[in-house]
Amino acid sequence: MLDIRIETTTTPKELPKADNPLKFGTIFTDHMFVMNYETGKGWHDARIVPYQPISLEPSAMVFHYGQEMFEGLKAYKAEDGRVLLFRPDKNIERANKTNRRICIPEIPDEDFLQALKAIVKMDEAWIPTKQGTSLYIRPFIIATDPFLGVRPADTYLFIIILSPVGAYYPEGLNPVKIWIEDEYVRAVKGGIGEAKTGGNYVASLKSQVKAHEEGYSQVLWLDGVERKYIEEVGAMNIFFKINGTIVTPKLNGSILPGVTRDSVINLCKTWGLPVEERRVSIDEIYEAHKSGTLEEVFGTGTAAVISPVGQLRWEDHIMKVKDGGIGEYSQKFYDTITGIQLGRLEDKFNWTV
Ligand code: COI
Repeated sequence: MLDIRIETTTTPKELPKADNPLKFGTIFTDHMFVMNYETGKGWHDARIVPYQPISLEPSAMVFHYGQEMFEGLKAYKAEDGRVLLFRPDKNIERANKTNRRICIPEIPDEDFLQALKAIVKMDEAWIPTKQGTSLYIRPFIIATDPFLGVRPADTYLFIIILSPVGAYYPEGLNPVKIWIEDEYVRAVKGGIGEAKTGGNYVASLKSQVKAHEEGYSQVLWLDGVERKYIEEVGAMNIFFKINGTIVTPKLNGSILPGVTRDSVINLCKTWGLPVEERRVSIDEIYEAHKSGTLEEVFGTGTAAVISPVGQLRWEDHIMKVKDGGIGEYSQKFYDTITGIQLGRLEDKFNWTV
């Protein structure tokens, strides 16, 4: 159990107004959680302090070799006033899996959860309640040794910041256009693709810029070896409804194991909706589109929740899905997951904490 010291801000910020659209990741709350690590001493000095800049040496290892991890989860305010976290155990499990992959010392699960609860409770007043909004929680760890050699660091900072957010994409629940990347790749099996670490996101920027220039919101990645099998979107996992079956790429070592992805698969199983986790080739999607059996496409992610896809572009082929409209299941998954997150629907899975 952590002994968390609390320093309350003396200059609280004004809460966002009710009509603020809460552009994703732009507003931060009054406080942050911080904890240090040092080899020999372990994780120590857990504290909640006013949200503020941090001071690091220019030689801090994170700036040079990218030893850092992050997570993303959300808190909601239920109508009865309860503050709900959605499946924090899954994020904590994944965080420590990332830590092991990139040689960051693990944080005991119960300490991680305690820290999440403490900082959310501290800034509970910042949880927005308008439809489609939530408090996004961003835990991250950075390597802080002032050292230019390549090795795992001996000192780290674990920080949790909070941001009241609206939709991740400006489109909201309106369908997004996705560019299927056939030149660059995001990750390969054996690499760090299944870890939640900044390197995977920087690898995506060049393609994202190209896609934006062409009027597409995001990039869908193909596998790094054969450039044939669908992987993920980077900020989301991807699902297809083909001839009545929900299909998503099987976790293969280079795909991020999304919490919303897992939730959708579980919902399919309880609804009796056929669901398959398997290899999905781009040729299969192209053929399904051509024959009219590609019924829906949507992305899943913590930030995006469910994001219907209205158009896919692969090489010179433009595949319109649902005539660019919202699919029935995209809407149903969105309504069910947000309903559970907000405490409006019965939580049969015990997903909320
Ligand atoms: C999330 O969905 O929480 C993520 O971490 C994706 C990020 C690119 C916003």
